Amino acid sequence: MPSDIVVGLQYGDEGKGKIVNFLAERNEYDYCVRYNGGANAGHTIYIGDKKIVTHQIPSGIIRGIICIIGDNCYLDPVKLKAEIELLEKNNIEVKTKLYISNKCHYISHKHISDDCSNNIIGTTGSGIGNVARDKYFRIGMRVSNNPSLLDFLPKSSIIDVSEFLINHYTNNLAFPRLLIEGAQGFGLDITHGDYPYVTSSHCISTDCLNLGIPLSSIGKIWGIAKIYETYVGSKNFQDENDKILQQLQIVGEEFGSTTGRPRQCNYLNLTNLIKSCWVNNITHLVINKCDILEKVNDFRIYYTNNNNIPLLISFQSLLEMQIYIRSQIINSIPFVKDVLFSDNPNGI
Ligand code: IMP
Ligand code: MG
Repeated sequence: MPSDIVVGLQYGDEGKGKIVNFLAERNEYDYCVRYNGGANAGHTIYIGDKKIVTHQIPSGIIRGIICIIGDNCYLDPVKLKAEIELLEKNNIEVKTKLYISNKCHYISHKHISDDCSNNIIGTTGSGIGNVARDKYFRIGMRVSNNPSLLDFLPKSSIIDVSEFLINHYTNNLAFPRLLIEGAQGFGLDITHGDYPYVTSSHCISTDCLNLGIPLSSIGKIWGIAKIYETYVGSKNFQDENDKILQQLQIVGEEFGSTTGRPRQCNYLNLTNLIKSCWVNNITHLVINKCDILEKVNDFRIYYTNNNNIPLLISFQSLLEMQIYIRSQIINSIPFVKDVLFSDNPNGI
């Protein structure tokens, strides 16, 4: 099937941008599509030594793929304009390659100031909870209500996504091949995450169906995790006295790509990872940043025993830990076909 999904399995920042870039390079897709989140996301990609961060625009733009910001995304037009200018300054063509759903809800200055002035859970301050509140309270403003806020783009950039995709099918007699890029991750999902320390969208793979695409057009579902965990926000996630975790934060350069905040670090929770692979129907799992763990030279995971108590298990080497993780995942979930470990920032 022609469309693949890339989805985060932890708390965002798992390295989805890198995998989208890796897949986009193969030139097998017609469109790269975002289906959730908004300016709260930060997808980092390295091209050679150059670090490029996208927030609202799908990362496929960097490889010249036509990009779509989907119906359920929250759109900040001011930040979008700035993001386009920054990418174009870096010689990345955006204006002729970007489509935006007419159903996206606009994030306003008021949403942002309300978010920043009442920020108990440690949001990114992008107005996400506030725009979501207005959307579900049915008082929001969609792109179709005021397209002039996007007057820096050609008029034809604003589309009805499902009609656009049906037209593609009618004209080509083939399903559009979509590279579908999730934002945030399972632990931040409004339903499945650790409520209230979550974002205000669904971050799981199946939410991409709200783009108006047929379920039967989905092929591979790439789940992205790190071999340790990070989280940005107000809850207590990292044992402050644990020297290994402090080292992981420094060696792994764990600072937010959107806000610059330090990311709290913890050991991989294998029980949560298995659940996340299950709910997201992952077919291909990528576990990133193995090089960082190797440098810190400490190999531990949390895994829940039969009494539901999370235990910390230690391994002698990275390889021993990887073999254990792979076998537990493959044995627990029948549809995971491959578990890949990455030890570099550019690829798998
Ligand atoms: P919001 O999405 O800005 O409302 O923030 C809600 C929670 O999700 C906070 O803990 C944020 O730090 C976190 N969050 C939102 N987007 C991202 C992301 O792209 N990466 C990592 N954490 C995120
Ligand atoms: Mg990020």
